[in-house]
Amino acid sequence: MDDPRRELSRRDVVRSLGAVAAASAVPSVELGSAWAAAAPVLTRAIPATGEKVPAVGMGTWITFNVGRDRQRRAQRLKVVQTFFELGGGMIDSSPMYGSSEEVIGYCLQRIPNKGSLFSATKVWTLLRALGVRQMNASRELWGLDRFDLMQIHNLLDWSTHIETLKEWKAQGRIRYIGVTTSHGERHDTMVQVMAEQPLDFAQFTYNILDREAERRLLPLAADRRLAVIVNRPFRQGALIDALKRHKLPEWAGEIDCANWAQFLLKFVVSHPAVTCVIPATSRVDHMRENMGALRGRLPDQAMRARMIRAVEAL
Ligand SMILES: NC(=O)c1ccc[n+]([C@@H]2O[C@H](COP(=O)([O-])OP(=O)(O)OC[C@H]3O[C@@H](n4cnc5c(N)ncnc54)[C@H](OP(=O)(O)O)[C@@H]3O)[C@@H](O)[C@H]2O)c1
Repeated sequence: MDDPRRELSRRDVVRSLGAVAAASAVPSVELGSAWAAAAPVLTRAIPATGEKVPAVGMGTWITFNVGRDRQRRAQRLKVVQTFFELGGGMIDSSPMYGSSEEVIGYCLQRIPNKGSLFSATKVWTLLRALGVRQMNASRELWGLDRFDLMQIHNLLDWSTHIETLKEWKAQGRIRYIGVTTSHGERHDTMVQVMAEQPLDFAQFTYNILDREAERRLLPLAADRRLAVIVNRPFRQGALIDALKRHKLPEWAGEIDCANWAQFLLKFVVSHPAVTCVIPATSRVDHMRENMGALRGRLPDQAMRARMIRAVEAL
């Protein structure tokens, strides 16, 4: 039987790049950043259901691993508050990230306006029983009845956990199933799992310099109608640190980018197969910069090529 999730083909991807181009053909400079700030939040549909999520979410690796330090917890609470105030939805974590899940739970408990939360965590262990125990522990730590998305972290023991996740989804204990990898690792296995398993999401690394995902993972995700979460958009901070030493090109205003963070994030979310990018930050000012990428125009194909050339030349 035809899989309806195959409807978005490579051709569709190319076509939507054209559509992005057309949408971006609005005069730029005269509209400026005021228009961008008032513009609606950029959302992307999850192919499996059509449910929309804001295209910029939040990662929590390292940044939310602050243990019981009261000052740092209070500061992270401000980061999450800012995230929701500026239209955020998806928060990604993992039991691998130390105390991050517990700190996210601490923050969520104290935030009333979190209706847009899309909770995404991972199972990261061997064996079915340990996986079940870990996922239940994560639910307690976040303080949720159920997760929106459960992902198999770095494909660890994926053939075991996928069976549990299918059962849990059928029972309504999670809403979506995904797998993750990063740093360009295990792409062969990722391709196999994405091609053969009934997934809703795939998460992997993609940024303006690490574009290996364009070759196989992004087209396959589009073909299989999988939502894509992009990790490491700033190369764990190294890329944005390097870029911030340089002046942002003036033409970045044509796609409503006021800073390098928005430049890098808009590059990622303008790929038509990408659903959500999840930069991590421990700082409110950085969160504000990052969430600015949810508004205004996106680059078309020609502009994306220009962005790559500009970054590679620095
Ligand atoms: N296999 C997997 O499943 C996997 C692997 C890797 C990552 N992930 C997920 O993806 C998320 C993102 O990846 P990542 O955390 O590795 O790296 P990243 O998002 O590329 O970079 C995070 C770093 O960027 C800095 N930063 C953020 N916004 C900034 C801004 N506006 N200006 C300057 N610096 C900024 C942060 O420092 P400050 O705190 O100073 O802002 C932090 O050190 C992770 O947190 C995790 O949730 C999943």
